[in-house]
Amino acid sequence: MKKIIKNGTIVTAVDTFKADICIENGTISQIGSQLSYLGAEIIDAKGCYVFPGGIDPHTHLDMPFGGTVTKDDFETGTIAAAFGGTTTIIDFCLTKKGETLQSAIDTWHAKAQAKAVIDYSFHLQIVEMNENVLMELPVVMEQEGITSLKVFMAYKHQFQADDETLFRTLVTAKELGALVMVHAENGDVIDFLVKKALQEGNTEPIFHALTRPPQAEGEATGRAAILTELAGSQLYVVHVSCAEAAEKIANARRKGIDIWGETCPQYLVLDQSYLEKPNFEGAKYVWSPPLREKWNQEVLWNALKSGELQTIGSDQCSFDFNGQKDLGKGDFSKIPNGGPIIEDRVSILFSEGVVKDRISLNQFVDLTSTRAAKLFGLYPKKGTIAVGADADIVIFNPTVERIISGKAHHMAVDYNPFEGMKVTGEPVSVLSRGEFVIRNKKFVGKAGAGMYLKRAKYGNSQVNNEMKTIKL
Ligand code: URP
Ligand code: ZN
Ligand code: ZN
Repeated sequence: MKKIIKNGTIVTAVDTFKADICIENGTISQIGSQLSYLGAEIIDAKGCYVFPGGIDPHTHLDMPFGGTVTKDDFETGTIAAAFGGTTTIIDFCLTKKGETLQSAIDTWHAKAQAKAVIDYSFHLQIVEMNENVLMELPVVMEQEGITSLKVFMAYKHQFQADDETLFRTLVTAKELGALVMVHAENGDVIDFLVKKALQEGNTEPIFHALTRPPQAEGEATGRAAILTELAGSQLYVVHVSCAEAAEKIANARRKGIDIWGETCPQYLVLDQSYLEKPNFEGAKYVWSPPLREKWNQEVLWNALKSGELQTIGSDQCSFDFNGQKDLGKGDFSKIPNGGPIIEDRVSILFSEGVVKDRISLNQFVDLTSTRAAKLFGLYPKKGTIAVGADADIVIFNPTVERIISGKAHHMAVDYNPFEGMKVTGEPVSVLSRGEFVIRNKKFVGKAGAGMYLKRAKYGNSQVNNEMKTIKL
């Protein structure tokens, strides 16, 4: 059935304007002011912004990590994402040495298929670069439409790859049209500092932050940037947490290196002191890179405003406080790393960014949706409101205030790291390919309705063949 969203203010990465949107067969068929309402379901968006659905380029759902598995799977995680105004996620498909890439991808499809309520895609982890991987990579990239490869420079003895692997991945990505993503921390230095801290009897959660200093992130970011330059390739640095790393990215961009940076809401509003909370509560804030001294927040906001950082990921990687985080009682290095962020990513950026005048409304859309669509080969089907685009739409009330709380959130975990934080603005209704997933703040979607998205190669924007006249 045809739907028309009327009376809203449409906001894209470049424009803000009042117009109605007609949705037919899952896509936006018309944008204008004299649309035919005949036979259409009318959705009133009076007083609301109408945004393109958020795109979260960084999630870990149903992921084994640190001797346990993330609490949110593709069902609870994508339901929470939808409540928060996100309609597409790109999750990290982990691989193992010696296992075929296709087998790892099949495992991730099995996790997502019957569960996701919104559309999803996968980045592919590269742990080794040998003849088998080199042979298989072009095949799976083509068949699966996977065009981003992830290399961990940290988590020694677990996920960490060496510099040769990173460099060969960069060279191969250039040839194949993929974007290389790095977790940039110096894993060897961190491993040394962690062992030393434990030997000295320093076991509390705060030592997670103290053994992963900002210099270890800055060094790895700078090294990855130089290797990218050497390979003539392209790089996306995930979860930038501090001035040292942001500066390395800005300098590399000034040199003309093709490098992009993502930060996350947690680094913009929380700080290292949270890890000092008593009664082991600091463990709730243990993720990597760690939270930093508060002054870094302003550096990150400025980098978003000036375009030196370009996207916001959630790095959703959730563990219960009771039963999972407490695996690290008495040894901070055993606390599973990660936090539940997927639901509040968009709200926090709107409230702390737009409402507090740190970024513009159009920048907010670019940061939470459009730029990720462009970088990861989804644009213009995803990431904008345009004729021919998928009708992934968020109707957002910009004035309502709410308090974030673990009691009210939809993630499967027993705490929320932003507990008690007051935010302005909230998604009211969310549509995925023209169907309501959230309607008037109630979940009305269906597990398995989310579609797997094959993506275009890096730098190849897709042609929108369905452009129709815009009637304004
Ligand atoms: O602590 C984190 N960030 N957990 C998820 C894995 C990663 O490093 O992104
Ligand atoms: Zn990471
Ligand atoms: Zn991550």
